[in-house]
Amino acid sequence: MKIVKTIKEIREIVLQQQKKGRTIGLVPTMGYLHKGHLSLVEAARRNNDFIVMSIFVNPTQFGQNEDYDKYPRDLERDARLAEDAGVDVIFSPEVKEMYPEGYKTYVNVEGITEILCGKSRPGHFRGVTTIVCKLFNIVKPDRAYFGQKDAQQAAVIKKMVSDLNLDLEIVTCPIVREEDGLAMSSRNVYLDEQQRKSALILSKALFEAQRQVLEGERNKQKIRDNILKMLHTEKTAEVDYVEIVNADTLEEIEEIKGKVLIALAVRFGTTRLIDNVIVEV
Ligand code: PAF
Repeated sequence: MKIVKTIKEIREIVLQQQKKGRTIGLVPTMGYLHKGHLSLVEAARRNNDFIVMSIFVNPTQFGQNEDYDKYPRDLERDARLAEDAGVDVIFSPEVKEMYPEGYKTYVNVEGITEILCGKSRPGHFRGVTTIVCKLFNIVKPDRAYFGQKDAQQAAVIKKMVSDLNLDLEIVTCPIVREEDGLAMSSRNVYLDEQQRKSALILSKALFEAQRQVLEGERNKQKIRDNILKMLHTEKTAEVDYVEIVNADTLEEIEEIKGKVLIALAVRFGTTRLIDNVIVEV
């Protein structure tokens, strides 16, 4: 498996594959791979002939006080995991390859990027859509794969693809969890032992909410209050948001009906974790 650093080289590799009539699956990542990423590769392999994984810690999606510098990086380990999972080529450019001096152009989806995670991370989704759009233009995949854990990211990217008439399919894959329920995330390595234990309250509260909805509760406020009550049992949990919205459009809903996203973000010390469930009633 090759690791490619330049746009020119990845374009040539993909073009050779496309000339042979092969379909291209893209798995965009920021590296420090876990089973969630590998499940995206598995899904990509099922429907595409050639799999490109991008590994790029994208500076434009991090706020000034966020963890860009300390974000975990280990390309050697990632390359081993990616190769075992069946990735054909890794595209891992330097920052100046993607954002050369004088870079000026950004892609911004309005409205749905200012709510949920966008509220406490202004500019985050502008960075995400910009880099993802660039990756789509460089790799020209038939399909690209994203995790449901970043539910808002997936919805924002789908909106960008639809609004800009980008010619590819976006596939969203289910959240992969640790055995005890914690959603897999590269940021879980920041948690100390006590925080790691406390963080279990996220999935517990979401699963309880899911159960209540499936058993007939339709009052959004009640479900939200129950989640908050559970989260507050962990003294160190600082709630950023708990929201219940339309799962496809992220629009506000009055009562629980149809496909609903129950999403939350909680800080433990300086580590901000997100998690969600989708319930259909
Ligand atoms: O989900 C991620 O890891 C990143 O936001 C993505 C989609 C690779 C863009 O940098």
